[in-house]
Amino acid sequence: MVLIQKGILQPLPQHASFLSFSLKPDADAPAVRVALSALRGLVDGERIVLGIGSTLLQLLDVQIAGVHDFSGIPGSRVPLPVTPAALWCWCRESERGELVHQMRRILQVLAGSFELQQAVDAFKYASGRDLSGYEDGTENPQDQEAFAAAFVQGQGQGLDGGSLVAVQHWLHNFASLDAMSERQQDDLIGRHKSDNQEFDEAPPSAHVKRTAQESFSPEAFVLRRSMPWAEREKAGFHFVAFATSFYPFEAQLRRMSGAEDGIVDGLFSFTKPVSGSYFWCPPMCEAGLDLSALDL
Ligand code: HEM
Repeated sequence: MVLIQKGILQPLPQHASFLSFSLKPDADAPAVRVALSALRGLVDGERIVLGIGSTLLQLLDVQIAGVHDFSGIPGSRVPLPVTPAALWCWCRESERGELVHQMRRILQVLAGSFELQQAVDAFKYASGRDLSGYEDGTENPQDQEAFAAAFVQGQGQGLDGGSLVAVQHWLHNFASLDAMSERQQDDLIGRHKSDNQEFDEAPPSAHVKRTAQESFSPEAFVLRRSMPWAEREKAGFHFVAFATSFYPFEAQLRRMSGAEDGIVDGLFSFTKPVSGSYFWCPPMCEAGLDLSALDL
C-alpha cells in the first residue's frame, strides 16, 4: 500500500513554520546520514512534512527521477530568484507554541551538519486568504484528483507516494495594492475579492488567466498549499505547490513571468518572489518516513 505524508493533503493548519536548511561547509555523507536517521524520528508526515533538496541528494550520491534545483525561467521579464536548499520542513500546528518546540527539536538533530537558511512564520488568514484579501486554493484539485496531481505512482517502492514541491517566498508591497481600487485589484487576479467569482472580462494579465491549469498542453495541475507570512513590518505569501513533476509549476511560471507571450502576471504589480527552490518529499512506510531511496 502506498503511504504518503498526509499533511500534504490535509487542510491548511492554523499556524505553520517553513524551515529550510543548507549543508554546513564541512558536512559529509556519513554525518548527514546520522542526522537524517534522527530526523526521521521526528517527521510523522502530518505535523511535520519533509522535503529533500538536490544538493543533499548529490552529497549522498543518489538520483531521484525528475528531482533537480529550480534554475529560473529563460526569457522571464521579471526577476525570479533561485535559492536552493538542502532540506525543507513544513511544521503544521493548531497551537503556535507547539511550533517553537518542533523547531527546537529539528534544530537539535540537524545541528551537526545543517544550518538554518530561512524560517518563515506562517498562518491561516480567514478561510484561506492571501493577505491581499483574495481567497486562495479554490481551483485546487479535490479528493482522488488531488492525490493524482500531487503523488508519484508507478515508480516502485520508496518512490511511490512521494511528491515534488515548488516553494517561492513572495514579498507584498501593500502601498501599491492600497493605491488601487478594488476593481483594479480584481483585474490583477481575475476574481472578485467580494465573492471570489471569476469574471470573463478580466485582462489576459489576470493571474487566474495566466495559470488556468486546463489551458496548458499537457494540462498543468498542482496541489497548492500556500500560506500568508509576516515578520515585523514585512509580509506576503509563501507559495507552496505539490505535483508529480516540476513541469506544471514551470509551465505556469513561464506564462506568469511573460516568457511565453510578453504579458506579465498582474500579481507582479504588488508582489514579487524573493526565493525559489524545489524539494522531493519522500513517501511514508509502516515504520515512518520511507528513506529507502537513500539507502536509509
Ligand atoms: C503572491 C503569490 C500568489 C498569490 C497571492 C496567488 C493567489 C491566487 C489566487 C487568489 C487564486 C485564485 C483562487 C484559486 O483558484 O486558488 C490563484 C489561483 C492559482 N494560482 Fe496563484 N497566487 C500566487 C502565486 C502563484 C504562483 C507562483 C503560481 C504558479 C507558478 C500560482 C498558480 C496558481 C494556479 C495554478 C491557480 C489556479 C488557476 C486555475 O486553474 O484556475 N500562483 N492564485
